[in-house]
Amino acid sequence: MDKIIIEGNGPLAGSVKISGAKNAALPMFAATLLAPGATVLENVPDLMDTRTIAKLVEVLGARIEKTDDSTYAIDCVEIKNHEAPYSLVKTMRASCLVLGPLLARLGRAKVSLPGGCAIGERPIDQHLKGLSALGATIDLSHGYVDIHTSSRLKGARITMDIITVTGVMNIMMAAVLADGETVIENAAREPEVIALADFLRSMGANIKGDGTATITIEGVTSLKPASTTIIPDRIEAGTFMVAAAITGGDVTITNANPKHMSALSGKLKEAGCEISADDSKIHVLAKNGIEAVNVTTAPYPGFPTDMQAQFMALMSMARGASVIEETIFENRFMHVAELKRMGADIKLSGNSAMIKGIKKLSGAEVMATDLRASASLVLAGLSAEGRTVISRVYHLDRGYELMEKKLEKLGAIIRREPSGESKKQ
Ligand code: EPZ
Repeated sequence: MDKIIIEGNGPLAGSVKISGAKNAALPMFAATLLAPGATVLENVPDLMDTRTIAKLVEVLGARIEKTDDSTYAIDCVEIKNHEAPYSLVKTMRASCLVLGPLLARLGRAKVSLPGGCAIGERPIDQHLKGLSALGATIDLSHGYVDIHTSSRLKGARITMDIITVTGVMNIMMAAVLADGETVIENAAREPEVIALADFLRSMGANIKGDGTATITIEGVTSLKPASTTIIPDRIEAGTFMVAAAITGGDVTITNANPKHMSALSGKLKEAGCEISADDSKIHVLAKNGIEAVNVTTAPYPGFPTDMQAQFMALMSMARGASVIEETIFENRFMHVAELKRMGADIKLSGNSAMIKGIKKLSGAEVMATDLRASASLVLAGLSAEGRTVISRVYHLDRGYELMEKKLEKLGAIIRREPSGESKKQ
């Protein structure tokens, strides 16, 4: 398994271009299943997860061609296979996003139940509640969810018990071809939900209210393929904003959407960063040190849970004490033990972390446990004294495109040690 080696160095400086959003790209691949014909997705980030969803859509019958570094041509004229294999689903729970489109297109979908992951059990009961409200029959057995409908799905009013991003995406992708009106209440409002609704509208769907808590969908009888460009990744952008802050740097983040970043920007300003932005760029200047600030994660537009681990690395070297409360996932503090190996002073109590900032973290050998925890360790390594060696960086590769190259361009001393190499020494 590859490692990443970082020598704590001075402030980052320069500009970095953000890639397309992983969490917008994954549902878009699934949505192409809804219409026979050829779609082009542009600005797709080259990640383990996007390669996995592309493989999954191919297994279901699509013809896929990667025409350049970030463009996929996807032809779903022949979708015959309704079953997503365990071998693929076990590597990425977002594979469950094919449930809605397969149900709508074929009347049948069989997906192995996504296992839990490091950050929590991550059930899909809300996805299934919505799909059965639309008329699907659901059978859970042998680790698979098998859903089918003998006739066209029927619109329904669905109130989500929990705000779930992929849950509302799955229901949307089924409802667009249902007979009649579907109203989804207590819906997730993330920008990736709006991006999916925009893509579905370009395919001929009739959707209103995306980005608010109530989404209304008037079913249509068929959709046509459309093409789209993936929106910028707000979590990658946020990660680089924190990289600038934690190193006392001066960094411009390009190809971003500042409107998606207001919760994080607000907290970084409270912590003493100077932040300025125009419609596609964000500038972070962190020359006056970092003050401790409290954070509670929440569904969009609140502070994103996907930035919690990265922000904790920053608070570990802030002036003062802070509390970070994680309200979305039940086990998203796996990075705490690793940060403590680097000298961080963090105490956990339930879903809260109490952090007492220290002057300087110290480099250490640490282990990545999940995607955003690995990003947090990279950020800590950038500002620590000495060398940090991060193992199991395949977690990082799920969600960050060429992260070490982008950081190196900003002045970081960072390199990847491919697994074979470490054995040779
Ligand atoms: C999406 O996951 C993102 N992934 C996650 O990003 C992100 O952390 C999460 O939304 C919250 O913003 C993708 O979009 C591919 P949820 P999702 O359904 O949709 C519970 C990353 O780092 N829940 O919004 O799976 C669930 O357990 C990843 O890029 C149910 O109980 O998350 C969690 O506690 C990590 N039943 C909460 O709701 C359900 O049926 C929010 O989960 C569904 C969810």
